[in-house]
Formats: sequence, C-alpha cells, structure tokens
Amino acid sequence: MEFRAIINGKKVLNDNWLEIINPSDQKVAGRVTALSEKEISEAFEVARNSQLKWSQTKLLDRIMVLKKFRDLIENNSLKIAQIMSLEIAKGLKDSQIEVQRTLELIDYTFEEAKRLNPLALTGEEFGVENKLGVFSRVPKGVVLAISPFNYPVNLSLAKIFPALVTGNTVVFKPATAGSLVGAFLGELSLEANLPPGIFNVVTGRGREIGDLITANPQINFISFTGSVGVGEHLKSISQTKDFVLELGGKDPALVLDDQNLEINAKEIVAGAFGYSGQRCTAIKRVLTTDEIADKLVPLLLKEVKKLKVGYPNDNPDIVPMIDEKSAEFVQTLVDDAKEKKAKIIFGGNRKKNMFEPTLVDYVTKDMKLAWEEPFGPVLPILRLKSVGEMIEIANESNFGLQASIFSRDINQAIKIAKALNCGTVNINGKSQRGPDSFPFSGIKDSGMGVQGVREALLSMTRFKGIVINYK
Ligand code: NAP
Ligand code: G3P
Repeated sequence: MEFRAIINGKKVLNDNWLEIINPSDQKVAGRVTALSEKEISEAFEVARNSQLKWSQTKLLDRIMVLKKFRDLIENNSLKIAQIMSLEIAKGLKDSQIEVQRTLELIDYTFEEAKRLNPLALTGEEFGVENKLGVFSRVPKGVVLAISPFNYPVNLSLAKIFPALVTGNTVVFKPATAGSLVGAFLGELSLEANLPPGIFNVVTGRGREIGDLITANPQINFISFTGSVGVGEHLKSISQTKDFVLELGGKDPALVLDDQNLEINAKEIVAGAFGYSGQRCTAIKRVLTTDEIADKLVPLLLKEVKKLKVGYPNDNPDIVPMIDEKSAEFVQTLVDDAKEKKAKIIFGGNRKKNMFEPTLVDYVTKDMKLAWEEPFGPVLPILRLKSVGEMIEIANESNFGLQASIFSRDINQAIKIAKALNCGTVNINGKSQRGPDSFPFSGIKDSGMGVQGVREALLSMTRFKGIVINYK
C-alpha cells in the first residue's frame, strides 16, 4: 500500500519513501512519500497563493466543495478504518467508530461555521453615537495542522475542516504512524476536486522535516496535538506565535466514597485502558483513601482480568502499543514502582510492544509512575490520607488536562471540581475529549488554547471590523 503527499492538487511523484511499520507484526504496512525541503517550501507557497481566492469564496460554496470531500470519507470509511488498524493497531471497530465520530464532527463544523455571526455594535453602549460597527470573523491565512498517531482521522480532520471552512488554507503533517491514513485522505481530497493548493499533505518523519515545516514564514496559525516535548520545541522555533497546542495528560480519578463502586470500577477501567491507554485523556492515576482502596482494588482487578488482549481484527480491549520504544518506557515506569515497593496487582510484563493490562497498587509520590505519562495500559493507585491530599496531589502534577471525581455527594464533587487545576472535570464519568462539540483544553504541560468545534473555528479566525460613521 503506498500513498503520496499532495501539494497544489497533485501527488508528489518523487522516489523518496517513508515506510510505515504495522505495530501488530513489525512488518511494513505501507509507505508514503518523504518530502524534501524544496517540496515542503512549495506546499506553503501554494497554500499562501491559493488562500485569498479561497477566502473570497462564499461560505456556502466552500461548504459545498468540502461536503464532496466529506462524502468521499464516508464512502471510504471501511477502507480508512482498515488502514488505521494496520498502521496504529487500533481495533477495527474502534477505528470505524473514530471515522463515524469524525463525520459527525465535520457536519457539526459546517453548521457552526454558518453561525459565526458578525457582531453588530452602535457605540451607544459606550455613550457614542452615529456609528454602526460590524465585526466579522475572517480567516487567519495559512494553517499548519499537525496530528498525533492515536487519532489519525479525528485529531487531523478536527483541525483541517474548521480551517478550510472558514477560508484558511492548510498544510497538514500527519504522524508517521498515521501517515497512510493522512495521505489517503489527501488522495480523497483530489477526488473531491478541492481547489489546488488549499489542502496540502506533507509526509515525512517529524524529526527530519518537523523544523522545516514549523519554522516556515508563511504560517499564520499552528494547530498541534502531540507530546509536551515536541510542543515546547515547536513553540520555540515557529515564526508565528499563534497556536493551539493539545499536549500530554496525567488525568486523575478521585474516588471519594464506596457508593456505586462496581459501576465506578468499570468506568475507571474503561477510561484507563481504552486503546491500550494511548489516549491523552486516559485515566492515568486513581487517588483515594486506604479504606476505599481496600474495596475498590478487588473490583478494578475483576474488571482488568476481563480485558481481552489481542490484535486489531479481533476487536480486543488491549492491542499492541504503537511501538516497542513506547512499551519499553512503560516498562521502566512499572519497574521503578516495583523496585520502590509498589504492589503489582495484575500484569506488569510485555512481549515486545504487547503490554499486559497492568494494575499497580500502593504507588507513592517518590515513584515515576505517580507523575509521568505512560501512554500505555497501566493504572496506578495512590492511597492518600484525605480529600485535601487528593486535591493537592492532583494539582501538583505538571499536567492539567482533565480529571474525574466519583462521589455520591454532588455538592462535595462540585466543590472539589472547582479546586482542581485542569481543563475539564468529569463528575461520575471517565475523562474524555468527546463529544466534539465540547470545548477541550489543557493547562500547564497539557497545552494552550482550546479545541472543540466552535473553539477551533474561533481560533482559526480573527475579528475584522467595518465601522460606518453617519450624521
Ligand atoms: P509526538 O511524538 O509529539 O508527535 C506528534 C506529531 O508531531 C506527529 O505528527 C509527529 O510526527 C510530529 N513531530 C515530531 N517531531 C516534530 C517536530 N520537530 N516538529 C514538528 N512536528 C513534529 O506525539 P505522538 O507520539 O504522536 O502522540 C502521543 C503524545 O501526544 C502523548 O504525549 C499524548 O499525551 C499526546 N496527545 C495529546 C492529545 C490531546 O488532545 N491533548 C491527543 C493525542 C495525543 P512524527 O510522527 O513523524 O514524529
Ligand atoms: O488522545 C486523544 C484525546 O483527544 C482523547 O480523545 O475522545 O478518547 O477522550 P477521547
């Protein structure tokens, strides 16, 4: 299977290739074009040169053009899901769910774009007369969209469609593991006859072409989702300082009482182990008291033991991790905890990049697992003295993406939610980004700016005012 980068409405026919490895068997799943510096510069030039005309296209005409692209995605949804399963080892059913979720996101984006209504002001609110001001949202220009491996469809199109529908043009860099899907989407955009240059797909290994794309002077706005390290680097070398960064997470689940413990245990396991924990919003630590943990841990164990481990076509709960390097990192966190006397309740071992679902009890503050983001199928439990200490430990993290609170007392839960420093707190539910109509944001090392359909549309546009003075 091979796909090509897309620049200016054409496939890039060079002979440089980037091979994509299938995490399930370490064999080559396919290959995509690897771009040169010159080809990357061309992508930004054509994005710049096509932007004015695209921005002058009527909104409903832009939607009509983009709807053809959207419909081709729907018509190819099974193929897209199959490619995803091959290149990121996401279960076939989960891959299909991701595509369907993204089609709904696109439809919602079209509707919300129609409601970016101009703001009309007369100045009377400020004691000024004889003015009529209309403040519209206009596109920022050229958008660089960079997506991570774990949601190659949703976290790329959640950037691309809001950018295009508001009249921006896009240069899109998919993750290496996700490039087959990314480049296939590019080829579908050709079939949809998007105006040449408005949507360009640049493929190549991030560490090789990343700085070339990020530092390009044509960029007006960057929408990045990925790790803290890359996000921080991107901030330091990009010429534009206008971006949205969705980075890492260490989402805590605070379990405050033993009410509905069985249901909460199921929710916590689903939140921690979905797609083998390779989700930024995965539950990555349970904070509770000794007394509750004594009842909760056996219930978590019961649920973890039910988790099916397997390969994408079998739709298991636990799939191979994206690569062996990532699995080795998780192993170092688990081994460190074990050495410091944590108790491995279940799992803790791996075969290459197939990591067992792992439950670790008695995790303490001196262990790396208490603070670092594993991005794998491991759930640490920290036994703390009080709710006050849970809040303290939750807020001490360098991350601030989301949190969950499980409690029968909604008043107490809301009070604690207000005390947690993060983007969103889920009460009696696992942390999660969706639904995609919700604002999604993180603070501290979890990023800056806000995702979510309406917020994406606003972040990729700016106000342009026209004020009429009359007598
Ligand atoms: P990553 O290694 O940071 O890569 C993210 C994207 O950046 C990929 O497209 C990558 O391309 C590209 N990249 C790498 N080096 C670059 C550079 N120097 N300049 C520009 N782009 C560069 O992250 P990942 O492994 O794909 O995803 C896992 C991480 O992302 C985790 O930390 C997770 O928490 C975070 N994440 C956050 C969210 C959220 O919404 N907050 C969602 C998903 C994931 P290559 O793949 O070719 O290197
Ligand atoms: O890591 C991807 C992040 O956006 C999680 O999405 O919907 O699984 O919470 P979701």
